[in-house]
Amino acid sequence: MFKISARPLRSAFVRYSSNTVKPIVVDNKSYHADEWTNVPPYILKLIDRKLHKNVNHPIGILHDLIRQNMEGMGYTIYDNFHPIVSRYQNFDSLGFPEDHVGRSTSDTYYLNKDYLLRTHTSAHEQECFINSKTPGYLITADVYRRDEVDRTHYPAFHQLEGARVYDKGDLEQIQQDIDAIPQTNIIVEDPFRENPVTPNNPGQKYMTDEEIRLVSTHLKKTVEYLVNQVFERARESAKKAGSTEPYLNEPLKVRWVEAYFPWTSPSWEIEVWWKGEWLECCGCGVVQQQVLLNSNLGDQKISWAFGIGLDRIAMLLFDIPDIRLFWTQDERFHKQFKQGEINTFVPYSKYPGVKRDVSFWLNRDYKLHANDVMEIVRNRAGDLAESVVNVDEFTHPKTGKKSQCYRINYQSMDRNLTNSEINSIHDKVVEDLVNRFKVEIR
Ligand code: DAH
Repeated sequence: MFKISARPLRSAFVRYSSNTVKPIVVDNKSYHADEWTNVPPYILKLIDRKLHKNVNHPIGILHDLIRQNMEGMGYTIYDNFHPIVSRYQNFDSLGFPEDHVGRSTSDTYYLNKDYLLRTHTSAHEQECFINSKTPGYLITADVYRRDEVDRTHYPAFHQLEGARVYDKGDLEQIQQDIDAIPQTNIIVEDPFRENPVTPNNPGQKYMTDEEIRLVSTHLKKTVEYLVNQVFERARESAKKAGSTEPYLNEPLKVRWVEAYFPWTSPSWEIEVWWKGEWLECCGCGVVQQQVLLNSNLGDQKISWAFGIGLDRIAMLLFDIPDIRLFWTQDERFHKQFKQGEINTFVPYSKYPGVKRDVSFWLNRDYKLHANDVMEIVRNRAGDLAESVVNVDEFTHPKTGKKSQCYRINYQSMDRNLTNSEINSIHDKVVEDLVNRFKVEIR
């Protein structure tokens, strides 16, 4: 593993234009480039897609479904925030430690030292706590992370954030709201329901035990209700498509596990048992008082917040085998989905992949992070980059030099690829590795 530093490493700084660093212009705003700049043009292009606002796209359909289920329950809906946010919004306002890996240029796309593509919808918590006129709010948005490329990971995805504020001491209101959440027949495994606080997952001193218990219960019941609604729809659509698998008639099973987020305590994640696997769905917790104080709410409020990843759920709901399909412009994908309808995706023809290896000696003066290789490949191959895997690594016993081999699978969802087309893309990838990281090809 490479050490990830909060400072930009020489290696992580990948320049996409020529050596003259031009400002980056997005939606008529100009951002000067500096040594933090690492967002490639093909990522910036995704900003315009706004899939969560497309009512005929699986992500938009899921967003609508959740929204409808929460209507009338006291939540203001925000789905229009621009994805470029300040470092303060994304990290500082939430109390991220200075050395948190999320801040590193190997994990996050920076326009420059001060601005970045939000890595989560929590970046907007403070402004929503300040502005929301209702006790709760929901935020849906596209978020961006430098990540591996495979069937379940893409550098852009979607989250839905929710939060709810209560007056300290108003236990009656919280209990009333808990009672108002519609009952489900979901099976819940939660060792922490009655005693939410444990040594690893502390409560906050300004709250009473009863406040923590009630606010956590309201949070968890809200998330369970939402998750159940969505998965009920997934079952219905699987049955409609003719599936007779036994899990379709069993009640949904979920479990709560302890988690850590800088801006909540205590914190949890909910996992859903789905087709024989526990699926991580949503992080959440009791909001740190400092966040509420920073949002001018005073010292007499308590709140919870959660963040759900939408893409993986939409993949289950619509039976979509590859996250990259969400971003395709292919008609054969888009014509299958309609506002308000959840149906099972019918795959269109699969095209074979083309594999290429690249092996090299690392240059000692340059740190090469696996994400850097991914990004070079993605920058040259776009969505033809199906997967990038580090398949071999060794250190020469005499010279101490380190060698690595990456295997790249180029594949298109929409068409056959030719060898010559892939060769020329792959040559460019090799060239970038040599130019940027001074590797020595073997
Ligand atoms: N932002 C978190 C993530 O991207 C998810 C999350 C966790 C959101 C806890 C929250 C929260 O509001 O309280 O992983």
